[in-house]
Amino acid sequence: MKSVKVPLGERSYQIVIGPSLLKAVGRKCKQLKLGQSCAVITDDRVEPLYAKPTIDSLKASGFNVTLITIPAGEKSKNLRLVQNCYDQLAQARLERNSFVLALGGGVVGDLAGFVAATYLRGVDFVQVPTTLLSQVDSSVGGKVGVNLKAGKNLVGAFYQPRLVLCDLDTLQTLPPREFKAGLAEVIKYGIIDDARLFKKLESEMERILKQDPKVLGSIIAKCCQIKAKVVGADEKESGLRATLNYGHTIGHAIEAITRYGTFLHGEAISIGQIAAGVLSHALCQFPEKDMERIRALFEKAKLPTSLRFTATQREKLMKAMQLDKKVSNGKVKFVLASRIGSVSPGHVVPNDMIHAVLEQIGLESSES
Ligand SMILES: NC(=O)c1ccc[n+]([C@@H]2O[C@H](COP(=O)([O-])OP(=O)(O)OC[C@H]3O[C@@H](n4cnc5c(N)ncnc54)[C@H](O)[C@@H]3O)[C@@H](O)[C@H]2O)c1
Ligand SMILES: [Zn+2]
Repeated sequence: MKSVKVPLGERSYQIVIGPSLLKAVGRKCKQLKLGQSCAVITDDRVEPLYAKPTIDSLKASGFNVTLITIPAGEKSKNLRLVQNCYDQLAQARLERNSFVLALGGGVVGDLAGFVAATYLRGVDFVQVPTTLLSQVDSSVGGKVGVNLKAGKNLVGAFYQPRLVLCDLDTLQTLPPREFKAGLAEVIKYGIIDDARLFKKLESEMERILKQDPKVLGSIIAKCCQIKAKVVGADEKESGLRATLNYGHTIGHAIEAITRYGTFLHGEAISIGQIAAGVLSHALCQFPEKDMERIRALFEKAKLPTSLRFTATQREKLMKAMQLDKKVSNGKVKFVLASRIGSVSPGHVVPNDMIHAVLEQIGLESSES
């Protein structure tokens, strides 16, 4: 078992990573002296797999538990379901000292976290992430929220959990495509902060894909450590936290123009990270050989590294980038790398250079 601290003064919390942790949920919540009653929010795919052991553990430690199950999938991250959760919490008479526990992937974590942040002006919140993406990324750092018709994550809050429990065993039931998509964020941590992690991923990728628990545990812990360090230094994203968006400017645009239906987030940001690597080579002396190592690692992880779009789609992609909520003063900003393990945010890149890179990574027009 490994433990990583997110250093936020009085609001600091632990991320615990290891096998068989679901059965320790109750004991861990008790140690934190959380209130007697709680709501477990999960989705209808995770519920039949992991709700019972979680609830049994909570009950064995003396907690009263209400179970709330939402439909699986991104579409559930909406205000109607938030309202529905509030109603169920009120019906179960959950009071100010009760807590909400998110059991599931990033969708459940973001929605349940927003419910916890706002119900009775905030009740305690515990995250039990069950996807690789949520274990290394969304459960750490306190961003919670839901989507609007106008765009993703447009309503939300910064609200830190009291505890994050990553049970490695839960990943065994994750569809392989979802697991690989999570690896795109894992590789990102190597690129933005840790050349040694990147090297380890290069040498251990086969074992990681087989979900060897020892390697996986230490890699997830490393990723959480990096995110914890970044969030601890810049909780509300005024600078350093933006580095976590490496590969996301183009990645988000790819997701948007394909209406979130073609690529998983991790797949879109794999292509985005390749594009950011090419831009880094052009603008930040990012070495060609590092670019090749990045491409090779994504290929080893069986993630996409190129895409072919029509000219019309490419125009849409440029427009989608302008609409991204991270754009300020109308300027699209990129996180770029100077070498593996070191990036900086805030690079303004001329449009013609973005076009050139899209061509170079295989997004060239098939209409012309
Ligand atoms: N808050 C943040 O900082 C942050 C960061 C990154 C992403 N996100 C958000 O996270 C969401 C994506 O999260 P995700 O990739 O975990 O997707 P997800 O929550 O939709 O889970 C993916 C699928 O896997 C299923 N599933 C979950 N755990 C499982 C398990 N152990 N076994 C079998 N099936 C399982 C789910 O039911 C779902 O169908 C997006 O909404 C994104 O905006 C938030
Ligand atoms: Zn991401």
